[in-house]
Parts: sequence; C-alpha cells; structure tokens
Amino acid sequence: MSTNRLAKRASRLTPSPIREILSVASRPGMISFAGGLPDADTFPEVESLSFEKSDLQYGPSEGEPYLREHVANEIQGRGWQINADQVLILSGSQQGIDLVAKLIVDEGTKVAVESPTYLAALQVFKLFGADYVPYDIETVASAVSKESPTLLYAIPTFQNPSSSVYTTAQRQQLAQSCERGNTILFEDDPYRDLSYQECDKQAVCSFMEKGSWIYQSTFSKTVAPGLRLGYLVCSADLYPQLLMLKQAADLHSSRVSQRIVQNILSDEQAGLRLARLQTLYKAKRDSFDACLTTYFDDLATWELPAGGLFFWLQLKTTTPINTRLLLSAAVESGVTFMPGEAFYADGREAANCFRLNFSSTKEEDFEKGLSTLASIFKSGIAMQNPTVA
Ligand SMILES: Cc1ncc(COP(=O)(O)O)c(C=O)c1O
Repeated sequence: MSTNRLAKRASRLTPSPIREILSVASRPGMISFAGGLPDADTFPEVESLSFEKSDLQYGPSEGEPYLREHVANEIQGRGWQINADQVLILSGSQQGIDLVAKLIVDEGTKVAVESPTYLAALQVFKLFGADYVPYDIETVASAVSKESPTLLYAIPTFQNPSSSVYTTAQRQQLAQSCERGNTILFEDDPYRDLSYQECDKQAVCSFMEKGSWIYQSTFSKTVAPGLRLGYLVCSADLYPQLLMLKQAADLHSSRVSQRIVQNILSDEQAGLRLARLQTLYKAKRDSFDACLTTYFDDLATWELPAGGLFFWLQLKTTTPINTRLLLSAAVESGVTFMPGEAFYADGREAANCFRLNFSSTKEEDFEKGLSTLASIFKSGIAMQNPTVA
C-alpha cells in the first residue's frame, strides 16, 4: 500500500528492538539476557487456574468490580486513599501507556522522560508526536520549570532499565515539581513487588495534593504476562476520558484473565506465593552478581539492583562505544543482551551501556552466557577502542 494513504503518525512507527531481539532469543539453545521476562517456574500451575462460564460474556470496560475492589484495598493497605471507582483495569500496563499517550500527546507535546527509560514507552509517546525533555532526578525541578512539559513519565521504583530507586525526598520533590509546573505526572510501577531489600517505595502520585496524575502497575511480573492484565488509578479529571479510550481500544480486558488473577490474589497462600517469588529472584540476582564479578569486573561497572529484573552495566572504556554494534556477534555465539541505545530519548549513538535480565535464564546458564558475552565485549572493545586493555 502506498504510504501516503496512511496517517501521518505511521511515519513515526519504529520497529521494537525488544521484539526483534526476542524473536532470536527464543531460538533453541539461545541464552537470553535481553527481555524482561519473568521466570516461567514462577507461573501458577495450569491445573490450579479456574474461571466461570459467565466470564465468557462481554463485561464492564472499567474492569470486574471484584478486581477493582482488590486493587483499591491493596493500595489503601499502603496508606494511600484510593477507591475502587478510581481503578481502571488494563490489558497489560503497556495499554496504559497507549491510552495516556492518546489522551495527552499531540505532535510537539513536551514529554519529560528519565534518561534512560523504558524503551516501549519511548516508542509510544514518539508515535503520537512527543517532543522529549530528558531529565534525571537531580535536575528534574529545573527541567520542569524551564521546559514546562505537559506530561512527565517516571518509573521511580526499580527503574527499567537502570533498576534505580528514588528516595522519599526525591519522590516529594518530583511531585512538587509537577504540581508547580502544572505537569501531568505518569508513574509506572510494574516492579514494586519484586523487592529484595528495604527501600522507599511510596507512590509519587500519593504526594500530589493538586494537579493531574496517573499511576499504573501490572500483574505481568507477579502472576503471568500472558494474562495481559494491569491497572491504572488516576486523578478524577482524567478518569472519564481514559475510560472512553479504553472502551474504544478493546471494550474491556479479558474477563477470564481477571477471574484467574483474582482467584490467585485472593487465595490464602497469596502472601506466601509472593514471598517465594522474592526469595527466588533474590537468589538469582545474587548468583548473577557473583558471576558478573567473575567475568565483567575489569570490563564494566554496575550496582546491585535492590529490586526488579535487571542489571544495568556501563563499560569501562575511555572512549564510549555503542554496545549495539556487539549484538550480532553475541547472537551468533548464542547469547542476547539489550544494548543501551534504545533506552535513550535522544537515540544516543554512543550508549556505552547495556541491560542484562537475570530472571528468565536458568541459573546454570549464567556462567556460560556471561563468559561468552564477556569475551565478545573484550574483543569488540579491543577493535573499536584499541587504547583499552
Ligand atoms: C516500565 C514498564 N512499563 C510497562 C511494561 C509493560 O508491561 P505489561 O504490559 O506486561 O503490564 C513493562 C514491561 O516490561 C515495563 O518494564
């Protein structure tokens, strides 16, 4: 079809690097550190899944009342007064990004994003024409007052890709900056329950005394991503429009998935299930870290993630090199990783960083995968950057 018959925004569609890497990641024998996939061993047993015949009928766009109630109660348990009628059930939190972008982002709308940030959010905002204002938490107040972005997107807890966590003071400062700048705050919080040590996790939106905000999370990381279920809560001014956009997008999220998730969450073993998940991921994180120390100590720097699913590494090169250029050699050797470049709004050429996921690969493959990757990085660095030993 001739492209001049398509919407103008179609020219801003970019292929997802994640999808492309994931398509090779599922090849037999491939060790993948690329995607953000949960460990399949954490998924509920198929025999334990149940739903009702009535769930096969059309349902409410807002989501099932029992699940909205459950979400509201869970949030209230954190000391944040949210009612069930503020909850909108989503077909994955990726849908929340799409709905928020549709509601707020036009061509040239200023959207403040962390640098780096979740690459699939960058793709969606860009599709709708966002003009990016990259920020980091140290400079957010000046970025907001200088650029007056309409929307600010943040992942304050176990950020994707950096795994960083904002302190309570930084959370308060971010909320204040958005209030002062009349900027709509969009907080994405998919990893909060995958926490391996004490840290500040209070939702930034809960500090917003005025202004507009959206807070979202997902059941993908704690139950199963294939169910495609997440939720958002938002300030009262935005709810009616987000609901209409949800209706227009898919009428409602799968009622079968909602029932399955509700049954799992309301089970008396739910707390134990989550605690087991945290224990398993913490052990994997520690063993991945030990393996990284063996193979990457002289090549890169990183911090131990306090939660979430990722290590974010920075090469120790004197001249930055683009890690994307090393990806095909890695794939040929049977390992995948996520190059840093795609996580930057400005498409930074020399993204000297890369992201490694530790949750989906079996622990016994860590050593083979990381030793292979380290030798590829060593020879790649030697070729691109001969001054580094
Ligand atoms: C920051 C962030 N937001 C949203 C999503 C989308 O998750 P889902 O649509 O499965 O809820 C992800 C998935 O990895 C993510 O990392």
